[in-house]
Amino acid sequence: MSLIKRTVTPLLPLLPSALVRKIAMRYVAGVTVEEAVATVLRLNKAGFCATLDILGEYTDSIEAAKQITNAYLELYDTIRDEALDCNISLKLTHLGLGFDDGLAEGNLSTVVRKARETGNFLRIDMENSPYTNETLHLYRKCLAHHARIGAVLQAYLYRSMGDLTQLTGDKLNIRICKGIYHESEKIATHDREEIRHNFIQLVHKGLESGAYVAIATHDKLIIDSLETWIANRRISRDLYEFQVLYGVPMGGRLEQLLEGGHKVRIYVPFGEEWLSYATRRLEENPHLAGYILKNLFAR
Ligand code: FDA
Repeated sequence: MSLIKRTVTPLLPLLPSALVRKIAMRYVAGVTVEEAVATVLRLNKAGFCATLDILGEYTDSIEAAKQITNAYLELYDTIRDEALDCNISLKLTHLGLGFDDGLAEGNLSTVVRKARETGNFLRIDMENSPYTNETLHLYRKCLAHHARIGAVLQAYLYRSMGDLTQLTGDKLNIRICKGIYHESEKIATHDREEIRHNFIQLVHKGLESGAYVAIATHDKLIIDSLETWIANRRISRDLYEFQVLYGVPMGGRLEQLLEGGHKVRIYVPFGEEWLSYATRRLEENPHLAGYILKNLFAR
């Protein structure tokens, strides 16, 4: 870990909350649904589609898990009523996974029913490795009820290529990302080049096997490589999309992708849990602390 990362992470709780809020709000669309809707409308107007995520994870009460489930149900209604080009991404631990897996499964089915009712799509984010098996298991179970559901595979995990092979089928809609959690070297590579290589191989394999693939990265080397590969292979535009996190500076690359006719979706988190989200992300991935420091001095 670099000196910057070692220095910034423990200092975060000591920074004035207004400053932390200012930094975090660069990556979060706000606290309320209204703020999230305003952000998505702005993104839609600029040609991007979006996916909304209510911040939070590791819910440890039945009431809280129900409350968040209801918030997702209302969010599907809002997306339909406001005619947003937007779907939803959620974390299963937010619905109770890890606390009470049966509860999480019931809540997930309720959300899936609502997605179907409103003609929308649901992406189940991938969390840290204790939840990988159960997340993929529940994803498969839900596919039986609603085709418009997607899962996520992390390029740093050695198991991901095997998982992709097992998941492959007509309806597979898979997001490929590098993986954000701190995982042991026993199960995940920490080598940047190997992660890049795995990422690209997973996207190739997904597209070659007919899956819909969401290419979720800010890494311009990966984006360039895949854009070229997609063009050479004449992969149909309706079989993939690029995805990035809201607020990450991309230096005009996203607009270039749009101009090239590619679909680009922005992952837009919002909600009251913005502070614990930012803090946890930093604890799990001190790499991000470097970005925080850059942000501090960049403005
Ligand atoms: P990398 O970390 O190498 O970043 C490439 C460049 O992008 C950096 O050099 C930097 O310039 C810039 N950058 C990246 N992150 C930045 C930031 N926060 N602020 C400023 N600049 C930044 N993970 C997971 O485990 N489960 C999941 O479900 C998801 N879902 C998901 C959805 C979407 C749409 C995205 C884009 C990412 C995820 N992730 C995720 C996170 C993912 O696994 C990964 O940790 C981050 O995207 C960072 O990896 P990159 O591929 O962007 O490369």
